[in-house]
Amino acid sequence: MFNINKTEKSRLQEIPLENLPFGKYFTDHMLEVDYVDGEWQSVEIKPFQPMLLSPSLAALHYGQAIFEGIKAYADQTGGVQIFRPIENYKRFNISAVRMQMPQVPEEIFIEGMKHLVALDKNWIPKFADHSLYIRPCMFSSDEMIGVRPSDKYKFIIILSPTGPYYSAPMRIYVEETYVRAVPGGTGYAKTAGNYGAAMYPSAEAKKKGYDQVLWMDALEHRYVQECGTMNVFFIIGKTAITPDLSNGTILDGVTRNSAITLLKDIGLGVEERQLSIEEIVDAYKSGQLLEVFGTGTAATISMIKELRYKDFVMHFDVDQWNVAPEVKKRMTDIKEGKVPDKYGWMVRVS
Ligand code: COI
Repeated sequence: MFNINKTEKSRLQEIPLENLPFGKYFTDHMLEVDYVDGEWQSVEIKPFQPMLLSPSLAALHYGQAIFEGIKAYADQTGGVQIFRPIENYKRFNISAVRMQMPQVPEEIFIEGMKHLVALDKNWIPKFADHSLYIRPCMFSSDEMIGVRPSDKYKFIIILSPTGPYYSAPMRIYVEETYVRAVPGGTGYAKTAGNYGAAMYPSAEAKKKGYDQVLWMDALEHRYVQECGTMNVFFIIGKTAITPDLSNGTILDGVTRNSAITLLKDIGLGVEERQLSIEEIVDAYKSGQLLEVFGTGTAATISMIKELRYKDFVMHFDVDQWNVAPEVKKRMTDIKEGKVPDKYGWMVRVS
């Protein structure tokens, strides 16, 4: 089912694999497959190249487009392992349902990804905090601007060698005007529009000197949702609190889920529940709010050193933190094969 056409000349020598900006460079090969007449066609793995698309492509106009973010790592023995790709695969098909798109079979998504990563494994950077970012994406490909679900879809996977996403601790602005997700909306789906709609509020926060926004709930602007493109955790006393997934406004993050497991292992209580900004401010004032960090595939674990709510600014001395650095270290050690993978998270490619 896979037609593999290898490049005649690798571009690997042209790209230094250290301190790479996120998502700027792509490996030698890509995967592409079309969904036509209710069936997935044969899968092409071929040299990375532009796609010829009609100006009337439905996805460009109505945003039926979903994606995933996954990472592959080189381990200590030169083997290649992917971090929890099955979880991303399941989430991708959940996003597909919400966006009225076809399901992608495991054989295409997982086996195709493994073939592609194995082919381009020399592109995996071997430096600390570096990895090969895997970007599966599906979009509607009917060439027609009637507003209806497409009959045709295209699924692609591209690979990007990458360094740290947020290299320094972040300054975050609590957003009270714009919202990311509403109950009944698409917050839990990894769909392109969620990211497009976030760009204006993020740019406004940047103008004020902040790296990202802390998204609040749409109805009362009171309960925390996510932070930029990440899930978010607050360590209050001996408990880690992160917003729960129950009303469909939060992305079910794979790094979030892994952090919950590691936090429990470290000995913290973990609560998935509604968390109000008043509770956060009160915990800060009483000295109980110890750490705040974001989790995501691209960002891994990103410390937050400042949180601004209205005119009240909360400062954190990240150099004194114990929990977030420990979670990050344990996760990285598993990903890089430095410690046994006791949770069965890594999927071997070669
Ligand atoms: C990820 O963390 O993989 C994301 O998808 C966030 C962003 C890079 C879009």
